[in-house]
Amino acid sequence: MDSLDTIQGFDISFSDYSKRIINIKIEDEIIDKLIFPFKKFDITALEYKPFTRFTLAKSLDDSTGGKLGKFINSILRDRDTGCFIIGPKNKSKKIDNNFLIKLSTAVTHLLGNPNFDSMAGKYYARFHVKHEDNSDSYLRKAYTNMDLHTDGTYVKEKTDWLLMLKMEEENVQGGETAMLHLDDWEHLDSLTNDKVGKQNFIWGSPKSKNVDYKVEHPVFSEDENGKPQISYIDQFPEPKNMEQGLFLQKLSDSLEGSQKKIVMPLPVGFSVVANNYFWLHGRKPFVENKKLSRELLRIRGSFFTN
Ligand SMILES: [Fe+2]
Repeated sequence: MDSLDTIQGFDISFSDYSKRIINIKIEDEIIDKLIFPFKKFDITALEYKPFTRFTLAKSLDDSTGGKLGKFINSILRDRDTGCFIIGPKNKSKKIDNNFLIKLSTAVTHLLGNPNFDSMAGKYYARFHVKHEDNSDSYLRKAYTNMDLHTDGTYVKEKTDWLLMLKMEEENVQGGETAMLHLDDWEHLDSLTNDKVGKQNFIWGSPKSKNVDYKVEHPVFSEDENGKPQISYIDQFPEPKNMEQGLFLQKLSDSLEGSQKKIVMPLPVGFSVVANNYFWLHGRKPFVENKKLSRELLRIRGSFFTN
C-alpha cells in the first residue's frame, strides 16, 4: 500500500512503528453521528440477535459513504499491510464501554462473521488482566511475557482475523502490544523449509477455554499465492515426539529473538485488528503493581465468503 485512502471524518496514516500498520482515528463528527443509531440496541440484543450487529456495521459504513468497509477489507487482505489500529481521535471525548463494544462489533461485521468464543459463551470475550491471577493460560498473567502467537490454533473454526480492544486500564506500566509480520521475520525461510513445520501437530487447550476436542494441523501452510502462513501458539501444541518438540523450541526461540518484533503502546479506546495468517501478536510483561487493571475485548472470525 503506497498511498492511503482519505475518508471524511477519519484521520488515516501509517503507524510510526511500521508502514505495515495503518492508524485510523475517528473524528468527533463521526462519533457524534453514530451515537443515535448505536442507541437502537443494547448489548444483550447484540448478543442474542446477530442481525442487529449488521445494522450497526451498516450505520458505521454509511457514515463514510461506504468507504470504510472497502478500505479495512483491503488493508486486512493485503499481504504487505494486514493490520490496522482504530479508535476515537479525541482522547478527551467521553466514550463509554458500551459504545466501544458496539464500535468493535460494527468494525468486525464489515469484515466477516465472528466466531463463537467458547471461553465467554458469546461472539466476543471481555476479560481483565490484574495483579493476581489463578487462571490456566497466559492470557491473564500480567507479569509474564505473552509470546508471539496466532489465535484459533486449537479450534475447528477458521480464524482469518482478530480484533483486540483495550477498554480500560489503570496503574499500568509495560504491557505493550508486540506484533511480528511473517515477511519481516529473519528466520522465515529456514523454518518454513524445515519439513517438521509441515507435519500435523496435535493442538489442545486448557480447561478455561471450554473446548473439549483437539485439532490437528501443521504450523506452516501456504496461501493461494504460495506465501507462507502460520498457525502457532506456544502453550497448546502437544508434540508427539522429540523431533516435533525440538522444532517447536527452535520456532519459539527464533520468534521471540526476532529483531523485527514491533513493540507499541495501544491507547485506551483503540483496537488492533490483524490478519491472523501472517501477523503474530503478543504482549510484553507489566511492571508489578497491586492496583494494576486492564480490561480487554476480543473478537475473532472469518472473512465473508460471498
Ligand atoms: Fe491472542
